[in-house]
Amino acid sequence: MTAENTQDPLVIFTPSGKRGRFPKGTPILTAARQLGVDLDSVCGGRGICSKCQVQPQFGEFPKHGVTVTPDALSEWNKVEQRYKDKRGMKEGRRLGCQATVQGDVVIDVPPESQVHRQVVRKEATARAITMDPATHLYFVEVAEPDMHEPTGDLERLAVALRDQWGIEKVTANLSILSRLQPVLRKGKWQVTVALNKDHRDDAARIVEIWPGLTEDRIYGLAIDLGSTTIAAHLTDLRNGEVKVSSGVMNPQIRFGEDLMSRVSYAMMNPGGAAEMTNAVRNAINGLTEAIATEAGIRPFQILEAVFVCNPVMHHLLLGLDPVELGQAPFALATSESVTLDARDLDLTVMNENARVYVLPCIAGHVGADAAAVALAEEPNKSDDLVLIVDVGTNAEIQLGRKGRVLACSSPTGPAFEGAQISSGQRAAPGAIERIEIDPVTKEPRFRVIGCDLWSDEEGFAQAVAATGITGICGSGIIEAVAEMRMAGILDESGLIGSAEQVGTPRCIPEGRTHSYLIHDASATGGPRIAVTQGDIRAIQLAKSALYAGARLLMDEMGVDRVDRVVLAGAFGAHISTRHAMVLGMIPDCPLDKVTSAGNAAGTGARIALCNIGARAEIERVVREITKVETAIEPRFQEHFVAANAIPHKTDPFPELAKVVTLPNVSFNTGGGEGATGGRRRRRRG
Ligand code: FES
Repeated sequence: MTAENTQDPLVIFTPSGKRGRFPKGTPILTAARQLGVDLDSVCGGRGICSKCQVQPQFGEFPKHGVTVTPDALSEWNKVEQRYKDKRGMKEGRRLGCQATVQGDVVIDVPPESQVHRQVVRKEATARAITMDPATHLYFVEVAEPDMHEPTGDLERLAVALRDQWGIEKVTANLSILSRLQPVLRKGKWQVTVALNKDHRDDAARIVEIWPGLTEDRIYGLAIDLGSTTIAAHLTDLRNGEVKVSSGVMNPQIRFGEDLMSRVSYAMMNPGGAAEMTNAVRNAINGLTEAIATEAGIRPFQILEAVFVCNPVMHHLLLGLDPVELGQAPFALATSESVTLDARDLDLTVMNENARVYVLPCIAGHVGADAAAVALAEEPNKSDDLVLIVDVGTNAEIQLGRKGRVLACSSPTGPAFEGAQISSGQRAAPGAIERIEIDPVTKEPRFRVIGCDLWSDEEGFAQAVAATGITGICGSGIIEAVAEMRMAGILDESGLIGSAEQVGTPRCIPEGRTHSYLIHDASATGGPRIAVTQGDIRAIQLAKSALYAGARLLMDEMGVDRVDRVVLAGAFGAHISTRHAMVLGMIPDCPLDKVTSAGNAAGTGARIALCNIGARAEIERVVREITKVETAIEPRFQEHFVAANAIPHKTDPFPELAKVVTLPNVSFNTGGGEGATGGRRRRRRG
């Protein structure tokens, strides 16, 4: 940068506030670069990409001490006019590479022209994502070959990238090399390249190449690979916008519903792990295809993928045998993050050169999905003590504040997702998702997914005629059990009372226990939806595991209370926090301090996709998280047994008591077992 001359016009950029004096005739893009102002450019100032658009401001600016006259910038030129005619440009905008400084001027850089723009998140707990992805597009003019100075096309491309963009080192694999020559010639020695450079790379790799200036946008997939579902967000790598989100069931379910049964499948069947690896990779390929079709893009435009998953899914995705994860000391093949090519994972639908980043795992039971939750929710930066519960087939729990974060996982099983429940089903149209039970009449009313009306409202029958009422999903069963407890249909030990004890014919005997009937369409061939004693038992086991895990972390931290609770997980978003607390899924806490973070693991994946600094950050943060192993901790069993009661046998729930009074009923007539006591006593011999 040349020394500033006080006679030169002053250029002030907003919103950054950066300012400097530049000789008349300096392009705005040049001034921006010299001041380190975040102004985008793909074509390098050739007036063809329009990424450098700015909005000059005219008039008096007392705050900045300048007056900007209408002639502060050079006149609108042919290049700008051509662009405007072809593509359109907002009123008042100029191309930063074309407009030059003529007088003092204030230049606003709109968000879409900033490379490191902030992405607005829709989720409740907004953590802004700053765009700094690993993959960027660059347009370059490459020198033509010269017989007298023989160099290869790749070498001349590398020189062009160095001279025109300051990129010192680039590499290209054989697939790029094989296309390089025709593309360079087709583009008449002008090409756009997509370069990928991760936080650990010292060279940028060419992952795609187009003749001329490409119109294509480039995308990444943020993938939350769960035991039950695979969810992916197709994200625009320029602005972080999620273009399409979609999901499929994890086809590995046919090898076992939960993680441990999949590990056993790998142990018992030669080639079993490879079979599961193939199944999940095929499903990801199918999902990629479907998402690209839905978004109207070509799959080769997908140049990156970031995965978050639990340790078993992590190993099965990477093609590693998960058997060590099934037994103490639960050793991972690697806990570090992994970066590799999509083709190494047989992910053949996205671009063959796409780069895949898998977040680091915290430990043998606490995976990259928990790391992603930590990235999204930042317990390590919290001033108050926060408990984060990612509810899934395996609950992953973190407790911490600035200075110390603990993590564990707890085997809740799939009951919270509606599995192992007699009328349970996936959250899909027709599933009961909300339920209320009148404490006096013991009559239920409910809502099903796909219909906004309650079942006792007019028009409900017609509104659900198409979907029917098909079962209860995870959030529905949590509400049902909590409502049954609040209405006195269920006692503290988890026993459902008889029709006489409760005072409703909806309590129906089934063997030695009872069920509570919610909806009966059996007369017309429809389903009969009830909550059975077995369902209550499954929910009790799941919630006890969750609570015991949280309690174990609280012991370790030396506390009896947490300041706030965050429910995460795709399913966590739908749980009623009040019902979760009545059930005793989570420790007592003021209800307004219990929030839902939606799919925090998916958000963490998006953050890591959009910002390579976040990858470096989470790799550092996971090393500082203390892992607590529930499986070998004797107190876990004690906490588990005490947490069996609803909400809890011994722990007080003073905050809950302020808002809900639970009836003091007992249905144990002496002869029968408590809802879960019999089974557990038998199991423990
Ligand atoms: S930098 Fe590409 S049009 Fe200005």
